[in-house]
Amino acid sequence: MIDQLTAIQQTSLAALQSVTGKEALEAWRVEYLGKKSPLMTILGDLGKLSKEERPAIGKRGNEVKVLLEKAYADKVEALRKAELQHSLTAGALDVTLPGRPIVRGRLHPATQTLREIYAIWAEMGFQVYRARDVETDEYNFELLNIPKHHPARDMWDTFYTTTPNVILRTHTSPGQIHAMREYCPQPIRVILPGMCYRYEQISASKEIQFNQVEGLAVGKNVRMTDLIGTLAEFVRRIFGPERTARFRASYFPFTEPSMEVDVDCIVCGGQGCAVCKYTGWLEIAGSGMVHPIVLRNGGYDPSIYSGFAFGMGPERIAMLKHGITDIRYFWQNDLRFLGQF
Ligand code: PHE
Repeated sequence: MIDQLTAIQQTSLAALQSVTGKEALEAWRVEYLGKKSPLMTILGDLGKLSKEERPAIGKRGNEVKVLLEKAYADKVEALRKAELQHSLTAGALDVTLPGRPIVRGRLHPATQTLREIYAIWAEMGFQVYRARDVETDEYNFELLNIPKHHPARDMWDTFYTTTPNVILRTHTSPGQIHAMREYCPQPIRVILPGMCYRYEQISASKEIQFNQVEGLAVGKNVRMTDLIGTLAEFVRRIFGPERTARFRASYFPFTEPSMEVDVDCIVCGGQGCAVCKYTGWLEIAGSGMVHPIVLRNGGYDPSIYSGFAFGMGPERIAMLKHGITDIRYFWQNDLRFLGQF
């Protein structure tokens, strides 16, 4: 029986050698350490042996059992390690591989330019005042000294809604009236940014929707020289010190006197080229001293108060800064264009 135990030990350990998986190991355990295994049968039947035989066989039987249990435990551990190793190499993650780039969103070029414009005016003490896109004929025209049938209305043809006298604003100037009526009689220094709409033939230089940034300063002793100095400083800050501003007499019904602001052409430096239509200058804003009638419509007495106003086109400014030659790019949503800013 001692020999039998030795044989059990040898065959079972040999069998364990060739076990490579969890299921085979469990089968091995049942076969060699299970209740019905030869070893357990011998140990279970010890009582049937004679007193002389029992101690030696019991001792040897237990030795084999301890040995097998230890071998089993070692195998469990070895399999666990092998499995871990396998999953490390099989599902290998190459941490040295560069990550996939995340495509980041960014601000629209018009928004970027708007924010630059806000920052410059903020430094000069102008607050942003928001006014509505949908206006009445009264605010868009009448209160700005553009009565019905005035020929100046031709410059601002717009979209009419089905509600009589409710239109999409053609410029940010109606915001002047809103701001004045809200702040009167306090002094005002605001910019009014936002989308404007016009009934236009769309072309490289004209869109049916575009941003404007209106400016309005009202107070005592606000003068034309303040307007010129302020705009000249704006031009220096947005385009750089090497640019020159030119002020040219013009006409707007809501300002008197009126002038337009030009910047020497960024492309040709004033020599004359296709972009500036060979004038050497590019127009960026309309401006002037607030007309007495408009001041009065805003609630201010024109004999005490005066003011200046301007309206500039951020897309125009962005075009000049970046050399964009077609205004239609702005609202085409073409990522090849937008991704460049
Ligand atoms: N509202 C004018 C325009 O659209 C611009 C302007 C604003 C002119 C303020 C003078 C003063 O064209």
